[in-house]
Amino acid sequence: MSSFVPRIFSGIQPSGDLHLGNYLGAIRRFVPLQQSHDCIYCVVDMHAITVWQDPADLHRSTLELTAAYLAAGLDPKRSIIFNQSQVIEHAELAWIFNCVARMGWLNRMTQWKDKAGKNSEVQSVGLFSYPSLMAADILLYKATGVPVGEDQKQHLELTRDIAAKFNNDFGPRLKELGLDADYFPMTEPLISGPATRIMSLRDGTKKMSKSDPSDMSRIALTDDAETITRKIKKAKTDAEPLPSEVAGLKGRPEAENLVDIYAALADMSKDQVLREFGGVGFGTFKPALADLAVAQLAPIADDMRRYLADKGEIERVLRDGAGRARIIAAETMREVRKIVGFVGA
Ligand code: TYM
Repeated sequence: MSSFVPRIFSGIQPSGDLHLGNYLGAIRRFVPLQQSHDCIYCVVDMHAITVWQDPADLHRSTLELTAAYLAAGLDPKRSIIFNQSQVIEHAELAWIFNCVARMGWLNRMTQWKDKAGKNSEVQSVGLFSYPSLMAADILLYKATGVPVGEDQKQHLELTRDIAAKFNNDFGPRLKELGLDADYFPMTEPLISGPATRIMSLRDGTKKMSKSDPSDMSRIALTDDAETITRKIKKAKTDAEPLPSEVAGLKGRPEAENLVDIYAALADMSKDQVLREFGGVGFGTFKPALADLAVAQLAPIADDMRRYLADKGEIERVLRDGAGRARIIAAETMREVRKIVGFVGA
């Protein structure tokens, strides 16, 4: 039996425009968890600066992402919503985890390899040690579950490795202090449903991403109805009609992606979507998908604009959330400093 309070933590970087992948793979899945769990949803601004961010853009994106959280249905009374840099314990625990994690572990991270490419020498040290900060985000609150998209799976495995090594390295010390031998939990990644990996609308083998140079590859959360419809109608597909069973999507990544998007937006399974649209061509399916996407996303974009009209209110939400997060974070760090052996702790 785990002695940990069930607690959800997740975060999104305020860098660039939020897209449909972020919404379906993360934010939309954050909402129902509020009914069953204590939830902490963070705007991870310290992660964003691992690559250059214009300060004015970072500031604006932080407020916009918070507005998106609120517009999508995160409730600041029920959940803790805050930006990472306001709770300095994230940086402190990340430093300790930098001394727990091994170079080899971080070197194996596929996201580091993808982002650094052949130019690792000119990347920031922060980009390399990014997963230690992510582990700190999660373990500072001893979170037991982390809803994310598929691309974060390896980072969550590393979080478990860091927790296990910390618990093991400091095992005797934990005993001496009368603390639980499983000091940090083995956090569960929550990666499920049809939308854990939404692909580019231009190339079904590439993930939908903020950094894709083509704006047509993604639907931004702030796109208007006309833009959403145009992007879906121009999405790359093949010439075949949709199959009536999931097995028929094999080898058709673009078709599968549009079915995944439909399923996630309609809260249906892929099977159900294909039962409805099996045998139908894209000339019919794309307009149906566009109508659904507009119906679901337009109210969120409207609400985001409404929230952004009162920046003071957004700042108040973040300040209040940070105050509540700090209470949990401070408690963990008081113990961690003692565990490590720092004088004065
Ligand atoms: P970030 O900001 O890149 O993405 C935010 C969330 O969106 C998901 N996502 C996708 N899901 C489905 N399809 C896609 N194409 C797609 N693109 C992005 C991501 O999986 C993520 O859930 N390292 C994290 C932020 C982070 C974090 C954390 C997350 C920092 N600390 C602690 C959880 C817990 C990141 O860069 O996500």
